[in-house]
Amino acid sequence: MIKFTIITLFQEALEPYLKTSMMWKATEKGLAEFNFVNLRDFGLGPHKSVDDTPYGGGDGMLLRCEPVFNAIESVKAKDPTAKVILPTPAGEIWNQEMARAMSRGQLGTLFSRDGVAPARRHGRSAPHTSVVTSGSPREEHSQLPCDMHYIILCPHYEGYDERILSIVDYKISLGKYVLTGGELPALIIIDSVVRLIPGVLGGETSAEIESFSDGDNIEYPQYTKPYDFRGMKVPDVLLSGNHGEVDKWREEHSGHVL
Ligand code: ADE
Repeated sequence: MIKFTIITLFQEALEPYLKTSMMWKATEKGLAEFNFVNLRDFGLGPHKSVDDTPYGGGDGMLLRCEPVFNAIESVKAKDPTAKVILPTPAGEIWNQEMARAMSRGQLGTLFSRDGVAPARRHGRSAPHTSVVTSGSPREEHSQLPCDMHYIILCPHYEGYDERILSIVDYKISLGKYVLTGGELPALIIIDSVVRLIPGVLGGETSAEIESFSDGDNIEYPQYTKPYDFRGMKVPDVLLSGNHGEVDKWREEHSGHVL
């Protein structure tokens, strides 16, 4: 069982997706569990405020430490081994290798104690520096593919107080663009991980053979009926019944990530 606890102000934006299709099936089969914590419940004062203006001035509001720490600690009180993920454009760029590692409970093997993936540490653009812990024994030595609990903290507003990073294990970026919050990244991370858990996809081999699963391979082109759609015909080799030739064609037409 892989467990996700999502700390968010916008549960209603996440729930429909997680209650649909494969994510729903994963929960129905007992392979995944999605829980929500409403950050507002940990807000301060009569207005349950979770943000404030930045010291030093500047536009926008920042997520405050207290609601975030209290929300995370409320989850960790029940499961101290849970790992905290922060979606942020300052994080490691998410990729299939990370999704695969996370689906096996081994994400920590790709990150160092400062929350930076090894390849990135030697690269040009180091992400924010701060003390970030990672890699509990449970995670790194887990042979059970799904025996993990991840807390995903979804920031909103213009940013977050930097001290929040001290309670984060992994900072993950979905790409070099800025979104309004962590909800979409949370869904993308969850979807790409959960679909890799054995038993989630219908055909047991679908996740294995498809795009990216073998290093940087891109899946070969596929076709279904009709044979001729508006003059665009299915390559004849795929109708030949010759499995050797079909495999050869597919091999030749598989691509690589740029
Ligand atoms: N939050 C805002 N932009 C983001 C991005 N590109 N990746 C992850 N989290 C984000």
